[in-house]
Amino acid sequence: PVTVYANQDIASKKVARRITDLIVSKQLKGENAILGLATGVTPIGVYRELVRIHKEEGISFKNVITFNLDEYFPMKPTSPQSYVIFMKENLFNHIDINMDNVHIPDGTLPIEEIHDFCLSYERKITELGGLDLQILGIGRTGHIGFNEPGSAPNSGTRLVTLDDLTRRDASRDFGGKENVPTKAITMGIGTIFKAREIILMAWNQKKASIIKKAVEGEISAEVPATYLQLSENVEFIMDQDAASELT
Ligand code: F6R
Repeated sequence: PVTVYANQDIASKKVARRITDLIVSKQLKGENAILGLATGVTPIGVYRELVRIHKEEGISFKNVITFNLDEYFPMKPTSPQSYVIFMKENLFNHIDINMDNVHIPDGTLPIEEIHDFCLSYERKITELGGLDLQILGIGRTGHIGFNEPGSAPNSGTRLVTLDDLTRRDASRDFGGKENVPTKAITMGIGTIFKAREIILMAWNQKKASIIKKAVEGEISAEVPATYLQLSENVEFIMDQDAASELT
């Protein structure tokens, strides 16, 4: 299903409330909430609202375990462009999550250790009972996570090569495309698909044409987000601008 909100602020608040409702319902059962998280500009409003809810309503994140979708490779966790820093600044530093419960792909590994790392990332998710909720943005290549065009629907966590358009879109953060890493570690399409609920968010006119392809286009590896049409558990949440090309 597709839900269109008047603006991204209202939409982000709805998504944040879905997340805290999940956290609280798990707390009542004495269980953990297992969340799949995204970076980029799209989820920033959701994270801001989660921080507000934590501070003003006192909802605790002590029972929350998180797995981020991706990280650039190579990337130091202390580098300002790292997704580790992004997550700390936008969310983790402002809530009471136990940092031992936070998982982000490791951009510092020697290349020969990446394969085992990726398998253990998948295994940890599975051993915890799987992701309760995965949130996603969408890249202009149609990527989800960093599953660029050509990604297989059953792909797992792995090292990938970033699309040129993705690197161009990231160039501002890095002060030039030549400084953007050429690779990343990302959860696979198959990893994402196992989540019990998936919410893909998109805001702004800039995303309108890729959203049209993702939601209404033929399912194909050329636009990996089209695979989401195959899942019963996906909701596309967008603002009016991102929805403007939908029929
Ligand atoms: C980020 C991620 C990417 C972004 C996508 C959109 O963890 O996995 O798929 O969601 O590139 O980025 P923004 O939100 O910056 O437009």
